[in-house]
Amino acid sequence: MEKISFFLRYLSFILSAKDEHSIHSPFVFDLYTKAIKPRKNFYVFTAIEKLRSKLLSSTKKIKVTDYGAGSKIENSPERSVSNIARYAEKSPELAQLIFRLIEYLKPAIIFDLGTSLGITTIYEASPSHESKVITFEGCPETSKIARENFQKMKLKNIELVEGNIDQTLPAKIQQVQKIDFIFFDANHRYEPTVRYFETCLEKAREESVFVFDDIHWSKEMEEAWQYIQNHPRVTISIDLFFLGIIFFRTKQPKQHFKLKC
Ligand SMILES: C[S@@+](CC[C@H](N)C(=O)[O-])C[C@H]1O[C@@H](n2cnc3c(N)ncnc32)[C@H](O)[C@@H]1O
Repeated sequence: MEKISFFLRYLSFILSAKDEHSIHSPFVFDLYTKAIKPRKNFYVFTAIEKLRSKLLSSTKKIKVTDYGAGSKIENSPERSVSNIARYAEKSPELAQLIFRLIEYLKPAIIFDLGTSLGITTIYEASPSHESKVITFEGCPETSKIARENFQKMKLKNIELVEGNIDQTLPAKIQQVQKIDFIFFDANHRYEPTVRYFETCLEKAREESVFVFDDIHWSKEMEEAWQYIQNHPRVTISIDLFFLGIIFFRTKQPKQHFKLKC
């Protein structure tokens, strides 16, 4: 039943989403035509995808500590690294879209909620080694593999904050002046999504960008996305179906875009 309603949401999106011809805002037009739509290839993609392939063929098993379901700790039986790489990491298409957004917008301080094995984090840290990526993960054994992956890619601009985001995010946020870019990909439920959004709002500035994963994945996530896009501080919201992007640009009128990508 869930699968059918997800498919219907996708169908409804496909039928109503627009392209650059419907965009009157120069800022959104440029973002769409320069960063979202073109599938530009960057040399680093090959190395990152090679790392993903290694994880996909790994025979290693780890004990996963899961804070995902409403922040209750669940120690599931062992899970294979290859299974995590297949089902938890963002696809190359979505991770590369995040890379292009960062490459275009040039954020200096990037927050990444939900590291997992670190593939998307590596995409976030690669456009500029001058940026700082602060990534959050609850599971110690998953964090260990992510750290190894950051080392393999020789990335020194990533800090992994281990522990439950419910506690680590409010603490870490006090140590930064502002957040330029955040990718929310940890606990895909209404309450934590809205709570993490409100926690991060405190450090959102005129040029900040918040990106939410899987905004149509469930009824709860759709409600969270509605709440976020209707928030008085949010001016521009862009629905790409699998991702939602928001901006706080005060000189722009509040506008919502549903765009094909
Ligand atoms: C979907 S995966 C992230 C995938 C990653 N962004 C990527 O694309 O490579 C979600 C991760 O968030 C972590 N997570 C979920 N809820 C959390 C919480 N409350 N505190 C810390 N980590 C959490 C899970 O352990 C899991 O590794």
